[in-house]
Parts: sequence; structure tokens; C-alpha cells
Amino acid sequence: MGNRIVLADPRGFCAGVDRAIQTVETILRTAHGSSLPEGVPPVYVRRQIVHNRHVVGDLAAQGAVFVEELDEIPDSAVEHGVPVVFSAHGVSPAIQREAKRRGMHVVDATCPLVSKVHREVLRYVREGYEIVYIGHRGHDEAVGVVGESPEHVHLVEHAADVEALGFGPETKLVYLSQTTLSIDETRAVIEALKTRFPWIIEPPSSDICYATQNRQTAVKSVAEQSDCVVVVGSSNSSNSVRLMEVAEQALAGRGHAHRVDDAGELDPSWFDGVGTVGVTSGASVPEELVSGVVQALRPLGYDDVSYVTTTKERMHFVLPAELRKAGRRP
Ligand code: F3S
Repeated sequence: MGNRIVLADPRGFCAGVDRAIQTVETILRTAHGSSLPEGVPPVYVRRQIVHNRHVVGDLAAQGAVFVEELDEIPDSAVEHGVPVVFSAHGVSPAIQREAKRRGMHVVDATCPLVSKVHREVLRYVREGYEIVYIGHRGHDEAVGVVGESPEHVHLVEHAADVEALGFGPETKLVYLSQTTLSIDETRAVIEALKTRFPWIIEPPSSDICYATQNRQTAVKSVAEQSDCVVVVGSSNSSNSVRLMEVAEQALAGRGHAHRVDDAGELDPSWFDGVGTVGVTSGASVPEELVSGVVQALRPLGYDDVSYVTTTKERMHFVLPAELRKAGRRP
């Protein structure tokens, strides 16, 4: 029998990523044939729509223009009503105000599960709480959430950061978290918070989203029966990097987990003496990149492909309201 590949299921696109990509694609499709002057693109996107360079490259090839900040968008485009899409990771109110001030036609592709955390921040601030937000400093999602109320949202990354917080028992405290964290690591931070601040309350339901949880459960299961795990996903994709960490831990020293953007980054030396390779992909990764990895492993003798299914996902998010009609395919 040849060597084996075990594919994690679920893997790849989540409902929020699917919605964000469809948002840009719908705008591109409906803009086709419109009478924008030469040099004015059909759509601007602030930041990477999702953290995957293949997805971004593909949409850019179809005409979308990606900018880091709104001030890169010329007034002439704003005057022509060119839509400006906010990425799946969400934005702070300051960015929304800036877009409004400039009269931009905003289409907000923020994942509804990220928007939920923004609403939680606003609600707890209104009720007089200080918020400990577990997240990654500098990540677009964390920047957006902290920006809802910078004076009341306190970011911690690791359990060790909890020591530096100095709240007294008179302070109403709640913790919230980024949607794409490692469940195990977050548990350690929550334990540290509960030990130091026993009165801290938790959100009504976990902020770590269903897709993150499901992909971590699946990769754990796959890693337990593998000698090496390949995670397809970009280096700035939080959930992809977490999948690699979870896999590395579940491999328990039998082998290593590696993250690649695509098959071109595979290193044949990773597979020396490896019988079973587990494969998964982050929530922003198109399936064809996973197929590319599976194809590239075949010449190395991995011709038996099976699946480990830990759950079936049925989540779907509708497009932003203004696009719903346009998004309907004939
Ligand atoms: Fe949303 Fe979770 Fe995907 S927050 S964008 S469903 S990874």
C-alpha cells in the first residue's frame, strides 16, 4: 500500500469569507458595461478582503483595486459613486466616519460574526464594563474591535499579559475574544483572567466562531493519525496559523506541521519517511489550492486519499442588503 493523505473536513472557506468574496464579485459583475471614465476602477477594497493572497490576486485581476487606507482613493472615484468594500475583518468607527465624511459609497463585507463582537463591545461599554479583549495586536479584526472604544477595551494576547492588568473588584469586567483564536490557548488566558479577577463575566456565547472551532477540531483529529500535517493558508491568516499550531501539538512530536500558500511552497524533505500526511486549509483558502497540494504529493507516493469528517457545516450568510438583488444568479 502506498503512502496516505488524510484530508480534514471541514476545511477551507467559511460562510463569512464566501460572503466577502461574493460581495466583491457581485459588484464586479454588475459594474460590467457601466460607463465609468477611463482609469476609474469598478470597486475599491480597503485592505485584503480576506487574508489570502491568491484570492486577492484573483479579484485584482478582475479589476478590483485594493488599498490599505481610504486616503488612497481619489475624490474622482468617490464622485462617480465607485463602491468601497470593507473587508471581512471589520473596521473601527473612525474608518466608518472617514468614509462618511468623504461621501463614499460603502459596502460593508464585515463577517456577521465579527460584527457581533463589535455590538457586544458597545453593549458592555454602555452598561459600564471594562472589556478584556483576547486577540492579536495589529490584526485587522482586533484593531477594528478595540477601535469601538479604545479607552474601555484592553487587549491581551497571552496568559502572561493578564498580570499587567490592574482592575479592582469595584470594576465591572467582561472578556471578549477575536473570532479566529486557538480554543486551547484562549482557554489558558480565560483561566488566568478568572483566577486574577474571579468576578469577570463571559460573553453569552463564545466569540471564537463556528468555522474556527470546526477546523481546529478536524485538524486535531487528522493530526492524530498523521506523521506530518500541511496547512494551506497565508502567513497573515490568523485562523490558518492557529491550525498549524493545533496540528503541531496534536502530532505530539511524531512529526511537524507546515503552512504553505500553495503547492509551490512544499519542501519534499518534509516527507522523508512520512507514511501519512494530513492536509487542511484555512477559512480563506480556495479549494483548488488544496487540490494542488494533493496533486503535488502524488509523485511522492501519496496516492491513497481519504477524509476525516468531524462535522457537516451548513452556515450561510446572505450578501449585504444592497447587493442581494444583484447577487441573484439568473
Ligand atoms: Fe467569519 Fe469566522 Fe469566517 S468570523 S469570516 S466565519 S473565520
